Amino acid sequence: MRNTRIIVSALATFCVAAVTATSLFNVQAADKKAAYSMEEIMKTGMKGDTSTLKKVVDGVATDAEKKQLVEYCKALTLQEPSKGDAASWKAKTAALLAAAEKVAAGDKAAIATLKETSNCKACHSVHKGDKK
Ligand code: HEC
Repeated sequence: MRNTRIIVSALATFCVAAVTATSLFNVQAADKKAAYSMEEIMKTGMKGDTSTLKKVVDGVATDAEKKQLVEYCKALTLQEPSKGDAASWKAKTAALLAAAEKVAAGDKAAIATLKETSNCKACHSVHKGDKK
């Protein structure tokens, strides 16, 4: 009976440790891995009149949508483009993220910066490959 108790408590300790280790690992993995795919970011976040970007730039986005754009931009910084060098990608996506963060924080003047840094052609001509 006593032994059983010791085993049960040892098992419980082990489980807690395992769960803790797993969640720590997940947090680290989430830090490195982008939350959205390139396709998701571009199709939902960037492209067309109903995109998150368009709403934010037009000043009709809700706070939640502004935050969503920040999340897309964050994920974009973690993506690897099919073309172009890493330093250029880092600079472009960091500038875009900074602008999106400012807008989400209520800085209306940053909308102009967001427009510039989200220029589709300027980024695609350097980083978008002919085929995926
Ligand atoms: C900071 C860089 C950057 C900006 C800004 C950007 N794009 Fe992209 N986009 C890319 C890259 C890189 C790809 C190619 C994806 C890949 O390499 O897998 C791409 C791909 C796409 C695709 C194809 C997605 C797919 O996988 O089917 C669409 C659509 C798209 N972009 C729309 C836009 C639009 C519209 C804008 C402007 C409002 C825009 N993008 C701004 C980098 C950017």
